[in-house]
Amino acid sequence: MQSAEPGPGGGLIRFARSELRITVAVNGAVFWGWDGTGPQPSYALAGGSPEPDPRAVLEPDKDGGWRVVAERVTVTVSRHGAVEVCTPGGVTLRRDLPPRWWEPVGGGAARWMQRSEVAADARFFGLGGRAAGPRLRDGSYRLWNTDPGRPFRPGDDPLYLTMPIQLVVADAGTHLVFHDTTWDGTVVLREGEEGAGSGHDRTGRCEVRMDGGPLRCWVVVGTPARVLHTWASLTGAPALPPAWALGHHHARWGFGSEQEVRRIVAGYRRHGLPLDAVHLDIDHYDGHQVFTVDQERFAKLPRLAEELRRDGIRLVSIVDPAVKAAPGNSVYDSGTAVDAFVRDASGRTVRGVVWAGESVFPDFTRAGVRKWWGGLYEERLAQGFAGFWHDMNEPTSFNAFGEPTLPRSARHALEGRGGDHREAHNVYALCMARAGYEGLRELAPGQRPFLFSRSGWAGLQRYGGTWSGDVATGWPGLRASLSLVLGLGLCGVPYSGPDVGGFDGSPSPELYLRWFQLGAYLPLFRTHASLRAGRREPWEFGPEVLEHARVALLERRRLLPYFMTLAHLARRTGAPYVRPLWWGSPEERALRDCEDTFLLGDALLVAPVMDPGADRRAVQLPRGRWYDTVTGKAYEGPAQVLVDAPLSRIPVFARAGAVVPVRGADGGPELEVWAPAPGRTGGGLVVADAGDGWDEPEPERYVARRQGREVVVSREREDGSGEPPYPVRVRGLE
Ligand code: GLC
Repeated sequence: MQSAEPGPGGGLIRFARSELRITVAVNGAVFWGWDGTGPQPSYALAGGSPEPDPRAVLEPDKDGGWRVVAERVTVTVSRHGAVEVCTPGGVTLRRDLPPRWWEPVGGGAARWMQRSEVAADARFFGLGGRAAGPRLRDGSYRLWNTDPGRPFRPGDDPLYLTMPIQLVVADAGTHLVFHDTTWDGTVVLREGEEGAGSGHDRTGRCEVRMDGGPLRCWVVVGTPARVLHTWASLTGAPALPPAWALGHHHARWGFGSEQEVRRIVAGYRRHGLPLDAVHLDIDHYDGHQVFTVDQERFAKLPRLAEELRRDGIRLVSIVDPAVKAAPGNSVYDSGTAVDAFVRDASGRTVRGVVWAGESVFPDFTRAGVRKWWGGLYEERLAQGFAGFWHDMNEPTSFNAFGEPTLPRSARHALEGRGGDHREAHNVYALCMARAGYEGLRELAPGQRPFLFSRSGWAGLQRYGGTWSGDVATGWPGLRASLSLVLGLGLCGVPYSGPDVGGFDGSPSPELYLRWFQLGAYLPLFRTHASLRAGRREPWEFGPEVLEHARVALLERRRLLPYFMTLAHLARRTGAPYVRPLWWGSPEERALRDCEDTFLLGDALLVAPVMDPGADRRAVQLPRGRWYDTVTGKAYEGPAQVLVDAPLSRIPVFARAGAVVPVRGADGGPELEVWAPAPGRTGGGLVVADAGDGWDEPEPERYVARRQGREVVVSREREDGSGEPPYPVRVRGLE
């Protein structure tokens, strides 16, 4: 270290061979960048970079180092360039050793490597959608969005949606670290171990290697809720799905015809099963070309859409980025006219192979291309589609270039900076999502867009959600589905869910049912399967499965007001709907290791069955009283309890004191209130919204108090408290 120069929110520290800029932002997030790097340009940040916190000051530290002291965090920098993030109490959360980098002799992107240490008790989460989580055990995780082939197996890594975000949970505190670099990289994690007796602790370790790009990162410290809130303020509030998107979706590759769609919809009706959306896959395109319709098999799509809409069912369309390279194809022609397609260094358009055959790829890293692409959704809206399912956007090209994506040398605009696919690859889908979202906002300004995307990057939540891709049918696939939803939620993308039943083959009736029961409590609840897979309609697995699937569907419908509330809270606070058990008590180590149970908002705890033949399961309960929502039986946590999990249901618990908005028998809103434990109060928020527009209903706040053997619920307002405007049903007093 040679000198230090204070600046807003921190300062600049000069070393013999590099320099380090540290800034604490007003929202408490810490930025640092080596070698003159600032926070911009960034594909992750929403809007500009946050203002520096004027109260954060750079001051001399011991041993010739410097430190930045802010309200919630202290960052120290040693003379050799090690950076430590500490709690205000001085406990170290993370120690980054001096980074190393290699510059090619002939110039060009420098590779770099950053080693870090975390507490011996720390657990790692995140890195986008990982099948082997949610707790990321020792191993190497690649940061390169990849279609691993149909289907993916739980051991496959990376998958479609990687993000250089880690959430680290330790006794000393929780922090999120984000390396804001879009390049190919690898993260090697090694959990620490606490020494027994007089033995030493072994710290947890993490090594991030990147093939290029700026060496910069953001660190956010605080409770999990605070960390996710700050993260959403940096990278954007999650888009709010329309109410119907929180219901049940049925998809299938290979519906084949309008008649087939009608047959499925009639089946749902005949069996008394709620259905909210039907998804059309590539087989409804003309020759697999995006933004076209096969006029033979789907001759009257707008009429079908209209009919379904009258029954409360929306049509969702798959949208693939690849465009068939054929003059006369109007998407190809209009794209060519605006020079939309990715070229190689010699100026030729890059051709890959996707479903439609030889194809070209829009360069979504150029504003003009996004604008053109966004306009193409007009055709989809005219066909009657209400939602969009972005696929194959890693981008995938079938093994045309040694790996199933574009060649690394392919050129991209990168917002005018210019660069190649090494830098653009990981944000290709993010930029496609932006194109779709912004296009839809212009084309249908009264409606909030519904979009979910297979691939993406940090910030995807601004435009929509995602799903777990082509998960292999089998019990490990069921487990992987939950891992993906939890991990993505901790990276800021709260809306996702699996292909219920798995993508390929035929699940056993039991596996199908258990997947269905889990899906009913995840934000995106969708059955989907491959062209060659067996059926996935609930009535195809025998009368028993049908009956239990109906119960799950009806319960999902009953919980819709709660899901809508969670969607609004996610938008306002960044908190995912689906949270790990340790969300409210990260200091409880046993909860950090619990991967088969999750919290749905503040009120519910869901314990899916993920093993064949099980009719009971152990459930880890966090502190407090929890009610089994079916039997009403009360349990006191922290505890591990053994409960019944018959085929008819998975165990779901309600937190004592919770106020849960539900749909009453007449379809109107109702409050389901779980009795607070004696001597305690409870409460909850409700956001009453059943629409798809931009109204912003204010959250309603309810308080539940115990009075003798009764529970009294009141609505708290600024002008005093009053009676709730909905019927109240108290449970848990039995
Ligand atoms: C990809 C998608 C899958 C879809 C298929 C055909 O494999 O992940 O959901 O059904 O392509 O479009």
